[in-house]
Amino acid sequence: MPFTLSLHTGDPARLNTPLLAVALPSDKAVPKTLASLDKALGGALTRAVKQKDFKGNRDETLLLFAHGKGPQRVLLVGLGPAPEPGAMVRAASLAGRKANSMGVERMGFWAEALAGPAIENAAIGLSLGGWEYTELRTQPPANERPKPLVAAVICADQAAGAQAALANGVAVAEGQRIARTLAIMPGNLCTPGHIADTAKDIAKRHKLKLTVFGRKEMEKMGMGSFLAVAQGTPQKPKFIVIEYRGGALDEAPVALVGKGLCFDSGGISIKPADRMEFMKFDMSGAAGVLGAIEAIARMKLKINVVGLVGSTTNMPSGTAMNPGDVVRASNGKTIEIINTDAEGRLVLADVLAYAARLKPQAVVDAATLTGAVVVALGSNATGVLGNDQALVDEVLAACRRGGEPGWQLPLWPEYRDQIKSDIADMKNVGGRGAGTITAALFLAEFTQGYKWVHLDIAGTAHSETDLISLPRGPTGVPVRTFVEFVRGRVR
Ligand code: BES
Ligand code: MN
Ligand code: ZN
Repeated sequence: MPFTLSLHTGDPARLNTPLLAVALPSDKAVPKTLASLDKALGGALTRAVKQKDFKGNRDETLLLFAHGKGPQRVLLVGLGPAPEPGAMVRAASLAGRKANSMGVERMGFWAEALAGPAIENAAIGLSLGGWEYTELRTQPPANERPKPLVAAVICADQAAGAQAALANGVAVAEGQRIARTLAIMPGNLCTPGHIADTAKDIAKRHKLKLTVFGRKEMEKMGMGSFLAVAQGTPQKPKFIVIEYRGGALDEAPVALVGKGLCFDSGGISIKPADRMEFMKFDMSGAAGVLGAIEAIARMKLKINVVGLVGSTTNMPSGTAMNPGDVVRASNGKTIEIINTDAEGRLVLADVLAYAARLKPQAVVDAATLTGAVVVALGSNATGVLGNDQALVDEVLAACRRGGEPGWQLPLWPEYRDQIKSDIADMKNVGGRGAGTITAALFLAEFTQGYKWVHLDIAGTAHSETDLISLPRGPTGVPVRTFVEFVRGRVR
């Protein structure tokens, strides 16, 4: 169902809609601009705030009923203490989600002085608020189904620039929709072939160059590390290169790299059964790359961006790689495989080595790489590591603008001792401590010749609990971080 977003300027009290969401920050008086809306509510708005029935806290809501020709209902939504990008997305998502569950087809959204990036964030939240993956559930007959939210009107402070901000919001939301859908799809449906088909759709829609390498081509390129993971599965591995050219012909591209494990059983070093089903999300980095390319192409950013995705599954079988095996990656380096469950880095090794061919201005990869990052940062922040501090700072700023918090971990050479091998150039796992750092140091071995940042999204790409503004499942991370990073590089 297409979702329509439009704009309204002027008094929100005059918006004829079944539901108007009003986002307010915590512990602030009701702004004067809402005076006529308060009147239509018989003063309930000011009373609710004064009597602290509504405090404006994050995820707080209160439903009020109005009379007159404007909104029929008003849903107060809390923004929390210090409105930052994430807060606006979250409040708008929550409003959209509530409207959807109420069976309201159209809604309005108001927050104080909505302009520029705030409009964009509201648009993203509203259009994804009702997002659900229903494809695999038997639906009740059409006349018994609650009506989904299909349209939202954003109350902009002024018309100037609002339309462009709205369009950008829609672009990002569509990118996230692709990423979330790929991520939530079970491994038997979202196969490497399906990921390649999705890349094909995106390439066709925006007339982008697409190259999909299979097992044979990867053998020719000497990608022994990626292929070691792929040798245990009957699925055809896919190495996907999708090229968006919005910049000058001679301009070096930004490369976005994603880990695309459609299922990670651990291989011969098999994982415990409990919660293994979550390993369908092990392609969230790949989903993020494709979602970002969709958004960037929709926004027609004046920059060159190449998306690189390595996709396969990690399975135990008679042909699978074994602990103790030594393989050679395409940059010539040899790897002793100690644990077959550290497969993401094996796939990324060859993809990152390939990225050097592009002579990129910067490379950012995203991967659900380590359980250790969940221990370190929980589900609140993406682990950020890189070989160039200025680039790390740039990516951290992009995380912040996108409302997807990131936190840096050190990539000090002292940790490198942990991945020394007795017989090869390195081994694929370190010791007990600092698992996220040793994983990133492994990747760093394949990033010669360019500036690079690694995002460990194992804790942030999907949520095991309902986040109130977001159902349990994929979060859309790192689409916004990628998009904000690339946007920040447009000259
Ligand atoms: N895909 C996993 C990491 C992961 C764990 C993602 C939990 C999301 C939630 C990765 O391939 C993996 O298995 N990593 C191992 C590395 C270890 C063998 C050094 C891990 O973190 O346990
Ligand atoms: Mn693994
Ligand atoms: Zn994995």
